[in-house]
Amino acid sequence: MIIRHTSSPLKGELSIPGDKSISHRSIMLGALSDGLTEATNFLTGADCLSTISCFRQMGIEIEQSGSHVLVRGKGLHGLKAPSAVLDAGNSGTTVRLLSGILAGQPFTSVITGDSSIQKRPMKRIMTPLQLMNAQIHSVNNNGCAPLEISSANLRAVDYSSPVASAQVKSCIMLAGLYADGITSVTEPVVSRNHSELMLRYFGAEVSTCGRTVSVKPEPVLTGQKVNVPGDISSAAYFIAAALLVPGSEVLLRNVGINPTRDGMLRVCSAMGADITRVNEDLSGAEPCADLLIRSSALKATVIEGEIIPTLIDELPVIAVLAAFADGTTIIRDAAELKVKESDRIAVMTENLKRIGCDVEATDDGMIIHGGKMLHGAAIDSRKDHRIAMSFAVAALACDGEMNIQDGDCVKISYPGFYEDLNSLVQP
Ligand code: S3P
Repeated sequence: MIIRHTSSPLKGELSIPGDKSISHRSIMLGALSDGLTEATNFLTGADCLSTISCFRQMGIEIEQSGSHVLVRGKGLHGLKAPSAVLDAGNSGTTVRLLSGILAGQPFTSVITGDSSIQKRPMKRIMTPLQLMNAQIHSVNNNGCAPLEISSANLRAVDYSSPVASAQVKSCIMLAGLYADGITSVTEPVVSRNHSELMLRYFGAEVSTCGRTVSVKPEPVLTGQKVNVPGDISSAAYFIAAALLVPGSEVLLRNVGINPTRDGMLRVCSAMGADITRVNEDLSGAEPCADLLIRSSALKATVIEGEIIPTLIDELPVIAVLAAFADGTTIIRDAAELKVKESDRIAVMTENLKRIGCDVEATDDGMIIHGGKMLHGAAIDSRKDHRIAMSFAVAALACDGEMNIQDGDCVKISYPGFYEDLNSLVQP
């Protein structure tokens, strides 16, 4: 994919496609509920389609027509044994959350995914699930998928997680629906809380106290209407593009601004960005708003500590902002970046260097010396959607043209990304 420098400002408005995390959860909780769940603005990215196909394999009827999805739930105990291996594709959320559900089923299943998924760490969910007495093991004995999961009576646990990961927390909470008492998870830092909000919305008893969440087993979940807010992780690319291209003014409609996800907005403010939240509202249990972004001169900042989980997926594009900002930006406490769809510390550093940026990788982040003149280059996305989209944005503000290898990987979370980006670029 080739993207060129733009000399004219970005103008216009966009409706941001549905949130990936919330879309996955609408299928999962819909399947485990009694009655119909209707999701609107559902994300049709490949990851969420993987979740749909896994549940279809377990006997759940799901009608999908674009971003409108109907799930005919069969209740907590209504899943059927799949007749083949469950394929999560590139989706970590599918493997990890579904493993929690599968641990509570009276049948054996195997779940795997593409070559990237088969390298991602699964011990982080296997350890707590095994403490719950789940029968789960890594088929190749390497702590990665494929995972084989068989029937077991689950024990409730009070688990202290070493990582701030909503995928780990949600996996344990979903297994907790099938346990013999109240299951609790404590995180080192609070991660996104979509599972907590949606479980409650569907009728489960979930309580939150500081960094601990607890869930009561055997709830009666009831199908609901879920209007999925726009994904702030997708909005992030247009926020960055509008900030970087001089004279731009862009309105992004219906963006989820859940405080466990809005770290990028806070970092952008610290960098001097002009972003206004308008029409703040609730979409079901989730806060959302329109965002008005005007191009701004950016200055460096330090990103560390408790804010990290609230912007973990946005760090690649934040690194691009830092490359154009005045001064040295430090990102630390973000070692989780190494175990995403690619090693995002290594891949961002390598590609930022290719466009002329002065950047160093550290064990848990990056040090980015911003403000140099940057130029287009050949970018190896490693088939990581967030790397490809980050450099598509950088391209608009770099000299010359950017050639993004495997640029079509954006379909994982944003099938219409290039069209939407193009629609803002003035002819
Ligand atoms: C997700 C949680 C995050 C995030 C991922 C989606 C979720 O992963 O990076 O894209 O839907 O729960 P971790 O919770 O492992 O950090």
